[in-house]
Amino acid sequence: MSRPTAKHPIALAFQDVSATTTANSSSKIGNKIKELYWRQQYSQAEYYPFEYMEEEEEKNVHVEIKVRQKQCGEQDGTGTGAVVWNAAHCLSSYMCYKHAVGSSDVEGKKIIDLGTGTGLTGIVAMNLGAEEVCFTDVGPVLELTKENVSINIENMIEKEHISKGSEGRTRTEEYWWGSGTLGVKCFDCILIADCILPKLYPMEPLVAAIDELLVDGEGGVCLVSYEHRTWFEFDPREKFAELCEEAELKLRRISEGEIRETAEDIIVWEVKRKIKET
Ligand SMILES: C[S@@+](CC[C@H](N)C(=O)[O-])C[C@H]1O[C@@H](n2cnc3c(N)ncnc32)[C@H](O)[C@@H]1O
Repeated sequence: MSRPTAKHPIALAFQDVSATTTANSSSKIGNKIKELYWRQQYSQAEYYPFEYMEEEEEKNVHVEIKVRQKQCGEQDGTGTGAVVWNAAHCLSSYMCYKHAVGSSDVEGKKIIDLGTGTGLTGIVAMNLGAEEVCFTDVGPVLELTKENVSINIENMIEKEHISKGSEGRTRTEEYWWGSGTLGVKCFDCILIADCILPKLYPMEPLVAAIDELLVDGEGGVCLVSYEHRTWFEFDPREKFAELCEEAELKLRRISEGEIRETAEDIIVWEVKRKIKET
């Protein structure tokens, strides 16, 4: 039997303070408290909810997505993807902002979610009107991905948020970055949340995967969210920028105002192909 979504005790301690500091949101302390609140609130829960408001037929509709997490994933072999990372929350929040201002990167697009883990980012993209979403990761975490995708798609169909038969517009595949097993230059939009982690995973295959999968031309976009963790060999942000430069990809850092919940150590980049001048 599933347990209800429970807030983390540290988040509860910050909840009241967070609410009272909203009016004074320009203050550094107020922002920090709000950040601590959103980062902690569901980190230890069995179910991680992600909510946003959407305008449908001139009415504001509250949308809630919920994915199951496995807290012991790093110990039982499921892997780091068994929980929702803060960077995935920020990327989801950015996709919702773009949708709300009428410049969605995902609506009507063919999407691939790399290192998807629980599947949150791809599920949000599906909710925001993606034409097709390919959820990818490696190893046992894919069982959790499939479970979360299937439950959320069912839910979206039931609420008539997406049409019947939309199950066929999603697939979950094992994909090792840069392996070439999912075709070449065939996705309009690539989602990457918290996969730049040189302590655990080499970065070259990740950038090779962007180059391999992103459609040619100006239309293709890759949204990457990154949480900064110090690495003794190099700065992962600089290394990512260098690898993109080598692959003729250009980076644009998204401004904080475009992300509802954000944090000083989390960056969202938009990555596009450089267009060669003729
Ligand atoms: C920190 S988790 C992030 C999960 C999810 N995107 C999130 O932010 O909540 C990194 C994910 O990358 C996947 N990963 C690591 N190296 C990979 C590789 N070479 N090819 C494919 N997936 C990989 C891991 O299995 C893991 O699920």
